[in-house]
Amino acid sequence: MPCLSALDRVLNISDLQALAHRRVPAFALAYLEGGADDQHSLAWNRNVFDNWRFLPDTLVGAAQPELTTPLLGNPSALPLIVAPTGFNGMLRHQADILIARAAHAAGIPFTLSTVSSASIEDIAQHAPGGRFWFQLYVLRDRGITRDLLARAQAAGCETLVVTTDCAHFGNRESERRFFRAPMKLTLPAMLNVACHPAWTLDVIGGSRGVPGFGNLAPYLSPEARKSGRGAAFIASELDPTLSWDDLAALRAQWPGKLVVKGILHTADARRAQALGADAIVLTNHGGRQLDGAISPMETLADIADACGEALEIYIDGGFRRGTDVAKALALGARAVMLGRPLLYGVAAAGQPGVAKALDILRSELTRTLGLLGVPRVGELTRAHLRAA
Ligand SMILES: Cc1cc2nc3c(=O)[nH]c(=O)nc-3n(C[C@H](O)[C@H](O)[C@H](O)COP(=O)(O)O)c2cc1C
Repeated sequence: MPCLSALDRVLNISDLQALAHRRVPAFALAYLEGGADDQHSLAWNRNVFDNWRFLPDTLVGAAQPELTTPLLGNPSALPLIVAPTGFNGMLRHQADILIARAAHAAGIPFTLSTVSSASIEDIAQHAPGGRFWFQLYVLRDRGITRDLLARAQAAGCETLVVTTDCAHFGNRESERRFFRAPMKLTLPAMLNVACHPAWTLDVIGGSRGVPGFGNLAPYLSPEARKSGRGAAFIASELDPTLSWDDLAALRAQWPGKLVVKGILHTADARRAQALGADAIVLTNHGGRQLDGAISPMETLADIADACGEALEIYIDGGFRRGTDVAKALALGARAVMLGRPLLYGVAAAGQPGVAKALDILRSELTRTLGLLGVPRVGELTRAHLRAA
């Protein structure tokens, strides 16, 4: 019998996470895993799913449940979307492109972050043919913001995802401890890097150096680009005065679909809807921004009731099992955005690792629907849940 590879032995997202932890040095793992302050939001995002238990129907003959879901006017093969995550090049060379290709192969939308390692144009060129969404951090320099929108449109991005919960940087201490100065690792962190030769060769080996910020490179001086000062540029450019007027202006500027990412409050969901948003993402940024925030799962049913069917509701934060996804769909979400699960995949094994994460969630969701006696994802309702 042929030997199983490490990826073949992965049974769930937690196994994939363990594989990623073996390959990636500690400072980069802290960036990937970290939450803000005491990491209460981060932990609560995982524990919140225990608030609901399933109530299955029986003897209903749901043979092969249907997972296809309409998202913003087009079918998605799964009720899943790749969440925007910045600086993925720190986990694997060309990680953004590998994730985008895996998302396209799985038939789900891919969202590129403003602070991605690959540029908008890189994705259009090297991962063509799928649903390509662009996430915008509104920068103080509105000229750059306008230019980013023009580039996204020219590259064929169908959807703009505006992130609203990052006007101030979250305090991720677990990550900061690895640095003695901006972009300068402590000695123990450097020694730890030396213990990860495969990562070192792949990510910073040869002439590669520290991964940059593909979208922002044109706005940085050549010197800032080389010295890894992109992060300082971003910190100085995030606009803490961001307001609903800015969102209205973006709605007027962007001709495609508009998604507002960063909503937890029912009143804000209604306001985004009134301003012409096509969808919203309920999120606490994966526990990385405001510590002690509610989990989006706690507010999902109220927001779904308040906004009705006309507004698509996406949700993220802590989704690691098909059962988690099913609970969100039953409470009124149209789809779930995935952050870390796909980053574990790309860090562990590149594009096949991302495909593995999506395969796991597909088969877990299929099994969950089968066991609940639900033939189609769209037919999950609150009747399938009971508050624990
Ligand atoms: C390493 C990392 C980088 C992220 N970068 C961004 C980003 O650039 N833009 C953004 O809107 N959200 C960003 N997020 C938040 C994700 O889009 C998403 O809200 C979150 O990861 C969902 O939680 P999960 O990781 O538990 O799935 C990032 C999250 C992580 C883990």
